[in-house]
Amino acid sequence: MSHKQAVVPQGDDAERVPLAARKVSFSWEGTPLHWVPGDPFSTHTINVLHLLLPAGERWFVHVYRQVLPHIRDERLRADVIGFIGQEAMHSQAHDEVLPHLREQGLDPTPYTAQVDWLFEKLLGDRTLPPGRARHWWLMERVAIIAAIEHYTAFLGNWVLNADELDRRGADPTMLDLLRWHGAEEVEHRSVAFELFLHVDGGYRRRVRTWATAFGALLFLWQRGTRFFMANDPTLVDARASFKEFYLRGRRGTLPATGEIVKSVPRYLSRAYHPSQEGSTAQALAYLASSPAARAADQAAGGGKGAA
Ligand SMILES: [Fe+2]
Ligand SMILES: [Fe+2]
Repeated sequence: MSHKQAVVPQGDDAERVPLAARKVSFSWEGTPLHWVPGDPFSTHTINVLHLLLPAGERWFVHVYRQVLPHIRDERLRADVIGFIGQEAMHSQAHDEVLPHLREQGLDPTPYTAQVDWLFEKLLGDRTLPPGRARHWWLMERVAIIAAIEHYTAFLGNWVLNADELDRRGADPTMLDLLRWHGAEEVEHRSVAFELFLHVDGGYRRRVRTWATAFGALLFLWQRGTRFFMANDPTLVDARASFKEFYLRGRRGTLPATGEIVKSVPRYLSRAYHPSQEGSTAQALAYLASSPAARAADQAAGGGKGAA
């Protein structure tokens, strides 16, 4: 394994917490279609998470299971195993929102079928023979996941602080799903990047895979938002435009465009480490108060949660 960076920034050890999945469950009967009241655009932009994450996070788990034999650091191995458990739970929790959307007349199948193809075929194992090509493709995917996790941590940090959603009366169950997930993203935000540094860490690969991940996320997100707006049975001539996104960002019901732009050079800086983003203390404080995480904790016997 090569370490092509001269200086590898390290995380703050005081921020390290053992990672374990919290086995949450949510009931969606009381959640309205427009769970940000009167704001279908913010609702559906955030709803795109339910389209992308079930397949995307299953793919993380699939790739990381292949990387485990390449890890030569016991603490990192434990972190990656904890990460796998958390992402598997996230994938399942978002998947369980889809029948609820279907019941409300919004069938996501045409879109999720494309997303499944993307992760299972385009980003799948590609039936490569053992050797250099297979290893290259595994490293490439590890780096793509590190780049995506920069954005899951960004979004997790955003939603934990998105007080405007509370002020506008957003559905508490959906907010708890987003904030439980967001808090675990902040909690495990260093794992994917540290794994990338451990098995490869090449700067050119980091830049290349960031461009792939960022471009794909923008493309999939705007398509997903348009898909929901066009298929929402209660909307006529609904629009999904960058201007709508920008205005919601200023209002605080979606991430601000300027913050998204500023996150780019941070990831591409050679001094980047995910521990510089968000707050573990805030994430753990949310998880200690989250209705779903508390119920999971009690079901697991009041400990740290079930792995
Ligand atoms: Fe996740
Ligand atoms: Fe994650």
